[in-house]
Amino acid sequence: MSEIGKAIKFFYHYMKRYKIGFTVTMLAIIASTYFQVKAPVYMGKAITELAKYVIGLTRGVSDKGSFMQAIWMLLLFYVLTVVGMFISNIVVTYISGNSTNRMRRGLFGKLQRMTIKFFDSHQDGDILSRFTSDLDNISNALNQALGEIMMNIAMMIGIIIMMFHENISLAWVTIASTPIAIIIAVILISKTRKYVDIQQDEVGKLNGYINEQISGQKIVITNGLQDEAIKGFLPHNEKVRKATFKGQVYSGMLFPVMNGLSLVNTAIVIFFGGWLALNGDMARTTALGLVVVFVQYSQQFYQPISQISSLYSMFQVAITGAKRLNETFDEPDEINPKDGKRLSGLEHGVALKNVHFGYNEGKEILHDVSMNVEKGHMVALVGPTGSGKTTIMNLLNRFYDVNEGSVTFDGVDVRDIDLKSLRDHVGIVLQDSVIFWERFEIILVSENRRQRMKRCMRLRNRRIFTISL
Ligand SMILES: Nc1ncnc2c1ncn2[C@@H]1O[C@H](COP(=O)(O)OP(=O)(O)OP(=O)(O)O)[C@@H](O)[C@H]1O
Ligand SMILES: [Mg+2]
Repeated sequence: MSEIGKAIKFFYHYMKRYKIGFTVTMLAIIASTYFQVKAPVYMGKAITELAKYVIGLTRGVSDKGSFMQAIWMLLLFYVLTVVGMFISNIVVTYISGNSTNRMRRGLFGKLQRMTIKFFDSHQDGDILSRFTSDLDNISNALNQALGEIMMNIAMMIGIIIMMFHENISLAWVTIASTPIAIIIAVILISKTRKYVDIQQDEVGKLNGYINEQISGQKIVITNGLQDEAIKGFLPHNEKVRKATFKGQVYSGMLFPVMNGLSLVNTAIVIFFGGWLALNGDMARTTALGLVVVFVQYSQQFYQPISQISSLYSMFQVAITGAKRLNETFDEPDEINPKDGKRLSGLEHGVALKNVHFGYNEGKEILHDVSMNVEKGHMVALVGPTGSGKTTIMNLLNRFYDVNEGSVTFDGVDVRDIDLKSLRDHVGIVLQDSVIFWERFEIILVSENRRQRMKRCMRLRNRRIFTISL
């Protein structure tokens, strides 16, 4: 599936439940645009009425009713414009807040269901950046750009309608250059996209590297590896800088280029309007008035185009983020057999039968390994580093599946055993020990005090470990 396809699938999944919200937003935006476009009409009317009122005063007539009415209408239209914007803003904020919240929950839930293979093959920092930079980018785009873009599209449609209403040939002249503007925008945007993608990937790798370094910083210090750490860091940082720079250059070009096109377009409109005034069959004064109006329109018309293009880079990083999150969601979950056997202790023993296994295709780690361990026996696997001891433990827990052969508990293949039940029955002490938030203290105490302490700790649901010296 293409990148955009993946992003659309992702957004659709999280946005589909807000159909009503989107409809309300669209209606509010359309209404507010209508009021905004229409308000100047009442302003013109108010000025006309004011002039009439002043002229009336000189003749001794004082009727400001129509003037006041126009002012009230103007005020009403402005207020309604603001109300429309306010409603659309609130709804968009609600939608983006709730959907990012659900994305975060979904992502965290997904992480809990994924295989060890995923965590083995992705750096922690890279996974973390999906929660931070990718989700932040999505949330920013939804919060800041979504409403703006919808508003700008509505504004553009509104202006097109108004232009065709005023004068059809001038309207065509004004929008004639739009395809060129769109082609240029698409070229610049696709260039930007390429580098934003690279940038996000590189940021993920940089985060991964920093994360690894920080967790191993003590080893770096004790072994005097600071220079090596910096040497490893610099290329990552440089790649991020390069990709960011190129992405920014292209996205930074969008706005000035669009502005330039808008100015050229205005010149064309003035030229054609002038020609129309001199050669057309319209009264010259009317034609001149039209030119002034269309100069306004042509600038207003380009404003949404450049706004949308400049906001697009924000959408771009969000699309990249959505693609990365979608890839995470597409990763396989751990397979738990349906109606898997539940273990209730071991009766006979554990066995590996002609096991072939490799983490990656084409690189086998275990070649035809068989062993039979009877219940009650204690077995030590001894071998040089990298010989496959941890790998066997990974297969016993079904963190990975064998390529060939089988791993059995009492003759039942681990693939037919309920995962939770299997792992409840296998205890592991990992090579790298991790101590969670519990506080550990080593206290030398007398036997008497030790018993008292044990009681207290049990009351507070804490465990006490004692080591005999
Ligand atoms: N997640 C993984 N992905 C790819 N290859 C791996 C993975 N984990 C281990 N390997 C490779 O599998 C082989 C066996 O590794 P394993 O960790 O089982 O060795 P070990 O006997 O436990 O070593 P040690 O004594 O260092 O703990 C090694 O060549 C290692 O590089
Ligand atoms: Mg090991």
